[in-house]
Amino acid sequence: MELTAHRTFYDCPVSEKLLYTSFLLLIGIGYLMALTYLYTSHEGHDGEPGLSMQDIVDNYYGNRSGTRLEAAIRGPMAGYIQQLEDRDQIVAWLKDEGSEKRYDADIRPILEKSCLQCHSPASGLNVPDLSTYKGIRQVAEVDTGESLHTLMKLSHIHLFGIGLVALGIGIIFRLSALAEWLKTTLMVSPFVAIFADILAWFLTKWDPFYAYTVVASGVLLGLAWGAQILISLYQLWFLRAPEANNSVN
Ligand code: HEC
Repeated sequence: MELTAHRTFYDCPVSEKLLYTSFLLLIGIGYLMALTYLYTSHEGHDGEPGLSMQDIVDNYYGNRSGTRLEAAIRGPMAGYIQQLEDRDQIVAWLKDEGSEKRYDADIRPILEKSCLQCHSPASGLNVPDLSTYKGIRQVAEVDTGESLHTLMKLSHIHLFGIGLVALGIGIIFRLSALAEWLKTTLMVSPFVAIFADILAWFLTKWDPFYAYTVVASGVLLGLAWGAQILISLYQLWFLRAPEANNSVN
């Protein structure tokens, strides 16, 4: 039995145990939600089902071989194109500078037929507006992924939010009875992972190779939090206080 000088879970009154348990369960569910959200919002970007490395690269680096419009009509929006010639005409227009004159003459009628029921302000959907030339330009530029501005917005929300959650989980987990080196590693890993993850978003914008860092740090965060939450829950309710030094049976 390991000797622990500090306060541990079995020193906690039931009220405190319930508080910790509720928090850990809530955070655990929140984390699973976040994973599901991440999966559903990024998967299939590259036209293949499932979340792949390419989806992550597309998100941060972009798909620089083409425009978002082309990626959309070859991928998730392909089903709305009624005739293949329509698609070819849009692609040809994109390749050919995408002038406003040809937008009005050739492209707009195609969109009207297939796309504008959703892609105009009247639909109320939060999707690119394709009903004006100005609107379609937004998706007719080469796709360089999330803008730096968006990344900065997401970064500060993540750093504050995940930092506080990591602190909350760590404060509870610190009461566990575990080898000190293992405890320290599990407690510090989430902070390292968040830092590496967010740094890697920006690096991936510059070089798609760093998508691997995004994934690796995500896995590290998941493992470290998973271990902290499960060990804490287990020890909260199942760990017995060590017998005092007087003899056992
Ligand atoms: C039934 C509604 C609907 C129709 C019809 C539709 N779209 Fe979309 N479109 C959406 C929704 C919803 C999104 C946002 C969700 C997504 O990205 O899957 C979207 C996203 C897009 C995007 C942005 C993709 C990105 O990179 O973020 C483009 C470009 C696009 N559509 C083009 C088209 C074109 C071109 C057509 C017609 C051939 C079309 N859409 C028809 C609903 C529709």
